Amino acid sequence: MTGAATLSPAVPKPAHVPDAAVYDFDMFADPAYVADPHKRVMDLVQNAPRVFWTPRNGGHWMLMSHAAIFNAARDIEAFSSEIVPQSQIKAMVARLPPGTPHIPQPLPINIDPPDHTKYRAPLNRVFSPKAINALKNDIRALANQLLDRVADKGRCEFMTEVAEPLPVQVFLKMLGLPLERQEEYRAIVKDHLSDPDPDPKNVMKKLLHITAIMRDTMLERRENPRDDIISLLWKTEIDGKPTTMDDMENYGVVLFIAGLDTVMNGIGHGVRHLAMDLPLQDQLRQNPQLVAEATEEILRRYTFTVPPRVVGKDMEFEGLQMKKGERAMLFLPAADLDPKEYANSESVDLKRENKVHIAFNAGPHRCLGSHLARVELQIVYEQVLARLPQFRLDPEHPPTFHCGHIIGVDSLHLTWNS
Ligand code: HEM
Repeated sequence: MTGAATLSPAVPKPAHVPDAAVYDFDMFADPAYVADPHKRVMDLVQNAPRVFWTPRNGGHWMLMSHAAIFNAARDIEAFSSEIVPQSQIKAMVARLPPGTPHIPQPLPINIDPPDHTKYRAPLNRVFSPKAINALKNDIRALANQLLDRVADKGRCEFMTEVAEPLPVQVFLKMLGLPLERQEEYRAIVKDHLSDPDPDPKNVMKKLLHITAIMRDTMLERRENPRDDIISLLWKTEIDGKPTTMDDMENYGVVLFIAGLDTVMNGIGHGVRHLAMDLPLQDQLRQNPQLVAEATEEILRRYTFTVPPRVVGKDMEFEGLQMKKGERAMLFLPAADLDPKEYANSESVDLKRENKVHIAFNAGPHRCLGSHLARVELQIVYEQVLARLPQFRLDPEHPPTFHCGHIIGVDSLHLTWNS
């Protein structure tokens, strides 16, 4: 969804929402947001209420301030991750005719503790810093291979040539899925994430599609384990019981979606910033040891995911009445630009005092892939700065974006003197 997306129709405001808490913002199609997402986030931070209700996309709350989001992310009774409640899913499954295939659920991301904890534990092991550090040399070699293909050309569309293939190939290899199908996989994930108001039936169809393309690999690895995540997950237990094919499919959908559409956008936002901030490029080329710090500061400045929640009970939150079942978005990009939390929040400042950001969220659902993401981002920045001379945005082709639960970079044209 780029440039010309149409706004979703506005729905009437519920009676318990005061006029002062209403702000009209379409998180999928607001034109200024899609044109230059983080500029619009900054505008919202300065001009919108710190928690507001928007009539777009069926009507929902937007949590903006760092404090509100930090509290909401840790209060799972008030803000549930069960977008479709488990009871409703069970009732829906019970009505399906016999022989219907298992309907996968993205676990652990869409389930609350205490069940969340037992589904998250096996993944913690798979994504441990030790397991990820062992991949560093391969990631660096792949980054260099991709950059060498473009270095002499003096220009490139960075998303297609580097930012997308790198994390996708790393992740497919980790998962043990065939690299030659990467374009097909990416297309499915893009389709899944670009749907503003998903009908549960369509979501189910898409999830079934994802598991169908992973099924053969999963079954094969059960018989012939290799050094990949699917084989490892077959060997773990969930709450003391051996992993089943249903469990594997549940994990498969969440890993597939989380692994294939996150890091590439982080790379896109970061490399775009570097292309606009030539003094920072110079500073990092002269002091590569600062790249780790720059990676964190860029993650904060360009935080790009918007996790959804459902209000779990009638309650007062930040002085507003919220009703059970209403939807709320944790607008992490705004939290990380909150001037109450970060002085001069708009500037990329490696010397800032508060370096703790919320780009990977907080609370029980905090990102499981954060270490992998950090390693990939850092290696890409290091190698881009080492392999390319000073690069800039191509003035004839400004970057393009799409918005929604992920603020993504669609195209990023760069030029340099080759
Ligand atoms: C820069 C890249 C990334 C960012 C910014 C990011 C961000 C996030 C955020 C904000 C959450 C919390 C969602 C929520 O609260 O509902 C999350 C959860 C998760 N992420 Fe990431 N992520 C990134 C990369 C990855 C990668 C590479 C993986 C690997 C597969 C991954 C796997 C997961 C999983 C499995 C969860 C669910 C954790 C749970 O529910 O307990 N992420 N991520």
